[in-house]
Amino acid sequence: KVKMILDLDTGVDDALALAYAVGHEDIDLIGIIASYGNNLTSVTAQNSLDLLDLLGQNDVPVFYGATHSTTTDDFTVMEVSKTIHGQNGVGDVLVPKSKRAVSEQSGVDFLIEAAHKYQDELVYLPTGPLTNLALALEKDPEVGKLIGQTTLMGGALTVPGNVTPFTEANINQDPEAADIVFHQQDKLTMVGLDVTLRTLLTKQHTAEWRNLGTTQGKLYADIMDYYIDAYYNLDIDKRGAALHDPLAVAVAVQPGYVDTMPLNMKVTTDKKTGDYGRTIGDTDQLLDPCHSQAAILVDQERFVSDFQNMMKKVLA
Ligand code: BDR
Ligand code: CA
Repeated sequence: KVKMILDLDTGVDDALALAYAVGHEDIDLIGIIASYGNNLTSVTAQNSLDLLDLLGQNDVPVFYGATHSTTTDDFTVMEVSKTIHGQNGVGDVLVPKSKRAVSEQSGVDFLIEAAHKYQDELVYLPTGPLTNLALALEKDPEVGKLIGQTTLMGGALTVPGNVTPFTEANINQDPEAADIVFHQQDKLTMVGLDVTLRTLLTKQHTAEWRNLGTTQGKLYADIMDYYIDAYYNLDIDKRGAALHDPLAVAVAVQPGYVDTMPLNMKVTTDKKTGDYGRTIGDTDQLLDPCHSQAAILVDQERFVSDFQNMMKKVLA
């Protein structure tokens, strides 16, 4: 079993990543750091607490991460995020409120402490902006070498972005932080739109969750249906909605779902070049030993089918 920290901006597909991690027998979920992104940090933290409790995981702590990017001093939720994930981040579904509180320790300090304590055993899994890891690296550069594996959902190498033609949403929130991470974080795997857009879930799948007859099955189906409808209405994909964040969790423990390309990458941080926030191979590090890789192909049928089985187990 690996020790896993999820860094979530919960978010519909983040909610799926949480459920998947909870159900996986090779994952010991030691904590969740809340990020801004799909919503405010205060909202995403509450969503994670509520969902953990819904799934009977009320011993997993939730920590507050950054409330805005490293280059701004405020954050406003984008309108498109509300359209895709609902005003409350979880498809405007009312999940029963957790009676627990968010932990007092900061998420960044929790991450640094866990990196020292667990080292190779630790998997850090961000599915939102990379601000928290960049702040941890700034405070304690050793973190870059200590963490056993960092698998992130974000970026786009071989396909266009989903915010601009070059930029994926998570990287777009804080390109400067992402560039720090791509340079300083050892053993890094990028699970970007290249693969996540090929893993689609449909209402046939969520009908099976609802048919389980449990509260959690119904609530998760309602949350996911909102997101599938948004994908349809915005014409992102009429066939289903992408399993961005859960795919990253799966790849962290079962790398065989994807084919990867070893590549040292950077993020464009020059606002004048027109591709601000782009994830791309770094010519300055091209001849250096590879510390990172990007997923470029996915066995989508196997993943979607395994994901569905996992959800039916967790939601039963
Ligand atoms: C990513 O952006 C967020 O909206 C989703 O939760 C996912 O992590 C996809 O680009
Ligand atoms: Ca996310």
